[in-house]
Amino acid sequence: MASEKTMTRTIRLRVNGKEHSLEVPSRRLLVDCLRYDLGLTGTKEGCSVGVCGACTVLMDGQPISSCLALAVFADGKEIVTVEGIAREGKLDRVQQSFIDHGGFQCGSCTPGMVVTARALLDANPNPSQDEIKEWMLGNLCRCTGYYQIIESIQGAAGEASDA
Ligand code: FES
Ligand code: FES
Repeated sequence: MASEKTMTRTIRLRVNGKEHSLEVPSRRLLVDCLRYDLGLTGTKEGCSVGVCGACTVLMDGQPISSCLALAVFADGKEIVTVEGIAREGKLDRVQQSFIDHGGFQCGSCTPGMVVTARALLDANPNPSQDEIKEWMLGNLCRCTGYYQIIESIQGAAGEASDA
């Protein structure tokens, strides 16, 4: 059988405020593009099947599972990873609140939790506990028992963003 030639495509995307033009295989996953092509290893890969939320990034402000999205889908989009949440060396309120409230243990889920929570607070600066639980349903944590995560998000509530 003749070997298949890998199809590639040039994509242009903005990641954490910086423009990138990349040639990627058409089947390259966004999580791999971010981690291996752009060196943004803050985004973690857990289940690889869209269940755990560890790989969550923001695409045009909305949380998505980057393990399910092809990199070509990010062409022309604005992506924010956990590295883009902090501004000018200062932690975002969500990041600081996770530290203050002990919202993590092993940390595998934390980048996904942080960007998902940031999207929540951008859309709804003062969510109720039930609204937090519902929004964060797609982000799983096997360490904390979730109470500290909810407290962390409640602690960061009240302001839309530090930007
Ligand atoms: S690694 Fe993407 S949802 Fe689990
Ligand atoms: S802190 Fe370990 S999985 Fe959440």
